[in-house]
Amino acid sequence: MSEESRTSIHGQWSSRTAFILAATGSAVGLGNIWKFPYITGENGGGAFVLVYLICIAAIGIPIMMAEVMLGRRGRQSPVNTMAALAAEEGRPASWALLGWLGVVAGFLILSYYSVIAGWALSYVFRTASGLFSGATADGVSSIFTNLVSNPESLLAWHTIFMVATMVIVSRGVKHGIEKAVTYLMPALFVLLIILLFYSMSTGYFSQGLEFMFSPDFSKLTPGSVLVAMGHAFFTLSLGMGAIMVYGSYLPKETSIAKATFMIAVADTAVALVAGMIIFPIVFANNLEPGAGPGLIFQTLPIAFGQMEAGVLIGTLFFVLLVFAAWSSSISLIEPAVAWLVENRGMTRVSASVWCGLAVWFTGIGSLLSFNLWADKTWSLVVFGETLFENKTFFDTLDGLTANIMLPVGGLFIAIFAGWLMKPQSSKKELNTTEKGYTVWINLVRVVAPIAVMVVFLNVVGVIK
Ligand code: PHE
Repeated sequence: MSEESRTSIHGQWSSRTAFILAATGSAVGLGNIWKFPYITGENGGGAFVLVYLICIAAIGIPIMMAEVMLGRRGRQSPVNTMAALAAEEGRPASWALLGWLGVVAGFLILSYYSVIAGWALSYVFRTASGLFSGATADGVSSIFTNLVSNPESLLAWHTIFMVATMVIVSRGVKHGIEKAVTYLMPALFVLLIILLFYSMSTGYFSQGLEFMFSPDFSKLTPGSVLVAMGHAFFTLSLGMGAIMVYGSYLPKETSIAKATFMIAVADTAVALVAGMIIFPIVFANNLEPGAGPGLIFQTLPIAFGQMEAGVLIGTLFFVLLVFAAWSSSISLIEPAVAWLVENRGMTRVSASVWCGLAVWFTGIGSLLSFNLWADKTWSLVVFGETLFENKTFFDTLDGLTANIMLPVGGLFIAIFAGWLMKPQSSKKELNTTEKGYTVWINLVRVVAPIAVMVVFLNVVGVIK
């Protein structure tokens, strides 16, 4: 197929804005609002945030440009895009494996992502019922504990969320994804700003800021640097083909550099604002910043219980959080669904049903991690270094995908785009200024791959 006539069989975004919204929809999700605050709390604050920001700028943005570029050039699911581009550039067909790594990572991430989205969904109803009005920090905490210790109710919420995701995915790119995100993303941001004002009124705002922005490097371990880097991939939806598959639906004329920049800035802003909302509430109520995955569910309801119109604002907040999770989960499964449609001749509907069922089933392991399987744990030791210790099924999946699979995927994307693709191909596809291209190619060839390797080698103790 000649380059000019390539289009995706799955359709195309109606405009550049549609792509930016959809990709922002993918990027902004539970990662920003649920995960970023709790891992920042667990890893000691400021220094961790700084490493995360550096990873976004030096690794995330260049790799995101590479991913969109590969997707738009290949115009197929990541597996087939990698196969086609490898053939075009005279590289081994085994590059399709990179697409497969992404399919598996997306699948595993969605399985636990949906469980957490289920928590958010259940909080819509809890908040709306006025349950939190005037509740104490202890009361709010025990409401959370009651939820996660009940596997049947977690299963019900997880099931509802998975069904909703697969309904949108089965409707396809333009009708499903594009429409869903156009209004929701801006609305979420407005709500976050309202909550930010609440946090400013707690009297602990500056303490929150200090925790997030004054770096104490003694708190930084090789493990927390890995988590910060892994999170840069996770939050930008990188390293598994989600952004690649969205790039494959991108119209030819769009500037990839500008679009990427806007997406990364929006994503980072949401995470930082979420942190600035949560930590003042943590300190004002004498809570533990390192409380783990329940952190937002144990803090925000206190705010909703105290503030004017808290029932309304809180309910809206959880509704929007569910939508943000929804627009991310769609992109987690899209690479698998697109492949089934392309290679197995399935309709989008049956591809969605099969993928959804398999992900749903895997998710059961994660939801049990908070109750019946809470003491079934694993440890991983590599070269005598303990990589993780006593992790539940949920923690293990999260660590394996976000901190290992996504960075490995990103590393190979950078190597392919930077070293194995002819510069004239990448230059043509990126279509940016000479200077912009030089900066990008150096980041993608040298800075990003070395940074990822150094972080990995540091964790396994090969370099200290
Ligand atoms: N970026 C999403 C979030 O922050 C999660 C995600 C990861 C989505 C990887 C797609 C791919 O919630």
